[in-house]
Amino acid sequence: MSKKSATISFENQSIELPIYSPTLGYDVIDVKALGKERHFTFDPGFYATASCESKITYIDGDEGVLLHRGYPIDQLAFQRDYLDVCYLLIHGELPTASQKQFFEEKLSEAAPICDFTRSLFSGFAQDAHPMGMLLSAIGALSTRSSNACNNKLPEERERAVIRLVAKVPVLAAMTYRHSQNKPFIAPDPNRGLVENFLYMLFGDSEISQNKTVITALDRIFTLHADHEQNASTSTVRMSGSTGTHPFAAIAAGISALWGPAHGGANEACLNMLKKIGDESQIETYIAKAKDKNDPFRLMGFGHRVYKSYDPRAKVMQQTCHDVLEAMNKHNDPLFKLAMKLEKIALEDPYFVDRKLYPNVDFYSGITLSAMGIPVNLFTVIFALARTVGWASHWFEMMNEADHPLYRPRQLYTGPARRDV
Ligand code: SDX
Repeated sequence: MSKKSATISFENQSIELPIYSPTLGYDVIDVKALGKERHFTFDPGFYATASCESKITYIDGDEGVLLHRGYPIDQLAFQRDYLDVCYLLIHGELPTASQKQFFEEKLSEAAPICDFTRSLFSGFAQDAHPMGMLLSAIGALSTRSSNACNNKLPEERERAVIRLVAKVPVLAAMTYRHSQNKPFIAPDPNRGLVENFLYMLFGDSEISQNKTVITALDRIFTLHADHEQNASTSTVRMSGSTGTHPFAAIAAGISALWGPAHGGANEACLNMLKKIGDESQIETYIAKAKDKNDPFRLMGFGHRVYKSYDPRAKVMQQTCHDVLEAMNKHNDPLFKLAMKLEKIALEDPYFVDRKLYPNVDFYSGITLSAMGIPVNLFTVIFALARTVGWASHWFEMMNEADHPLYRPRQLYTGPARRDV
């Protein structure tokens, strides 16, 4: 860490605070010592707060850069596959062929789901939201002795990471099969992770053997795998910092991702496009999005960090084209509507001035819809892909012997002490 420091002066005193410099990105000011001076920093929403040190993912919001362990997202999406990215996020390097084969074997061994889990789903209504089913199922799996994890043992922490990455796709497919009132399909040990997911959704069907669809879904998983300290990852770190069961920490992350301001945006974006209906309505909805008195926002637009084009959205748009061509849906009205909406919004001063660009969720919904995946499964697919990111951050934090308990403070403006 560098020897630079910042001086903060207030009332009749000043305090020197150490500044640490990163490999990439902004310097950070360590404000821990402020507490002793009876001051806290105040940053609702954490717009300017670095909650931890991490080596996994770097984002430059101004330049539209996303690196996983230093590798640009577009190179990973087009030159490697999701399994490579999973290994990279967890272990810090891309796998050799033998490492990848061993990794895939461990995932395959950990994938099968027992009767206990199958029985869980019988308690859900058929129209239960799949995200509610997924977070319940992963939480329930924490009670199984086979998933027990002594967080103090590195080998058990790594085992928990493998079991999470292996089991969430199976649970995700089960939420779909339950909502379709169809029998569950067990994972096939002879299929790769992405092919297996499609197989567990649709059985041996044309869609689950369509190479373009498999490649597109693999790319969608890669684009959603990790994204620094976003709301759900921060939730996993916060709950994991208490020493809770890793599956419980991931259930907390799933809960956070569900919201429309975060992972729920892909589902909300497709519903928004359907609501707009056709190009004649675009101006009306753009006006609603700009109206401060109207809660409507353009789903799939804007980002807390990216104040330029989300690098994932570029890859997502191309992938969307590929799938629509493969599914002979290149005249898909929703895709044409999305492209027109994007063009109009990117020329509108309201969006330009606020640096609001399409994010990863803008085209993912159209792509998944073209694959025949129902809207209410979109965020489950985001959760499936992001599980490796959540698990990697949990793993990184737990591997630090002295990782602190997350415990922010507050600005209290309630009543002063008073007697009953
Ligand atoms: C994801 O954090 C991550 O990394 C998340 C994610 C990941 O991979 O984990 O990238 C995944 O969650 C992507 C984002 C998906 N969400 C959406 O697409 C929902 C629509 N977007 C908005 O809800 C919003 O853009 C947020 C929540 C994503 C970000 O908003 P911020 O950074 O909290 O900023 P803000 O709400 O304060 O907005 C700044 C201004 C405001 O106007 P003014 O008060 O300055 O006049 O921009 C406006 C906002 O009203 N604004 C929008 C808008 N987004 C922001 N106006 C209309 N439509 C929008 N979508």
